[in-house]
Amino acid sequence: MKDTIAKIFEERFGGKGDFYASAGRINLIGEHTDYNGGFVFPGAIDKVIMAEIRPNGTDKVRVFSVDIDEYAEFGLKEEDAPSQSWARYIFGVCREIIKRGGEVKGFDAVFAGNVPLGAGLSSSAALESCFAFALNDLFNDNKFEKFELAKIGQSTEHNYCGVKCGIMDQFASVCGRKGNLMRLDCRSLDYEYYPFNPEDYTLVLVDSRVKHELADSPYNKRRESCERVAQKLGVETLRDADMDALLAVKESLSEEDFKRAKFVIEEKQRVLDVCDALNQGDYETVGKKMYETHEGLSKDYEVSCEELDFLNEVAKETGVTGSRIMGGGFGGCTINLVRKDLRDRFVDEAIRRFNEKYGHEPKIYDVVISDGARKIDD
Ligand code: GLA
Repeated sequence: MKDTIAKIFEERFGGKGDFYASAGRINLIGEHTDYNGGFVFPGAIDKVIMAEIRPNGTDKVRVFSVDIDEYAEFGLKEEDAPSQSWARYIFGVCREIIKRGGEVKGFDAVFAGNVPLGAGLSSSAALESCFAFALNDLFNDNKFEKFELAKIGQSTEHNYCGVKCGIMDQFASVCGRKGNLMRLDCRSLDYEYYPFNPEDYTLVLVDSRVKHELADSPYNKRRESCERVAQKLGVETLRDADMDALLAVKESLSEEDFKRAKFVIEEKQRVLDVCDALNQGDYETVGKKMYETHEGLSKDYEVSCEELDFLNEVAKETGVTGSRIMGGGFGGCTINLVRKDLRDRFVDEAIRRFNEKYGHEPKIYDVVISDGARKIDD
């Protein structure tokens, strides 16, 4: 990927720039909890967005996307927003840095990636984090802390891409560390690295290839439901609510809002239970919690779809330890905690049965937990 980018950069702009990359992410457990002030448990993966970038001495950004095969050029003022949706991520990052008192000047860039698009692996967070990290290095002497870079990506989603997302994806993409998952408390923003390298188990993603686009999905509606219930309970976020409090106001909530909040409150506890189980090396409990999360995401939060429920079923029937839909939902992948000796059989089974039913094969990704945002030296 680096060679392709370098070749195109040379052809388009001449010479060389600096290389940066940031990663897609997985999340072991803790879904739709981030914007509710709860816990998440993600890690960065070995699929990245990589960019070659060089200041160009003008006030214009000139950028080429290798995978989309499109070029965009835009200024750095609020009214200069580009029309291509992929370029708005980069424009948004520039604007959010400027709004925070940072500096961004014109630059030339070429980027490419191998984070599958629309699979729930946060290709957009990888793109934002890659540019946030690079522009912090190139124009700001790295004055923004890593966590601030994640917030720059998140605000880009809110203000330029129409997704009222939480902080998980950008946080994982920026702060990820090889061989480690991270437990993030989304209220205090404290986080802890958890080495994750189980001897007998592996994580496998099965991508249904059902398209996943949060901007067009009811993601923001889920968030509004949670906020309505929090308001009713007189708490800032559902992190501060428990089941008793929720049951006490049940009659005054719509059935839908009740189910959404119930899931979030249960999911908050599941993340903590999984951390305890991991500390004891108890992967059976980790897996059980993953199945519970799937059930909740499917029945109460209603962000699954037929194909993902089917993949979850296949996992269960094949004896996979844990399986659930991952990420925002409405398509994308399941994440599966699989005994190593079962991995091949499960993958064969998932491909065969899914293909039989839906007429196309799911894609399989073995998870390698890797570093997040970084500069790539020669
Ligand atoms: C998307 C969002 C995240 C998070 C997940 C669900 O990936 O970008 O902030 O809310 O959905 O856990």
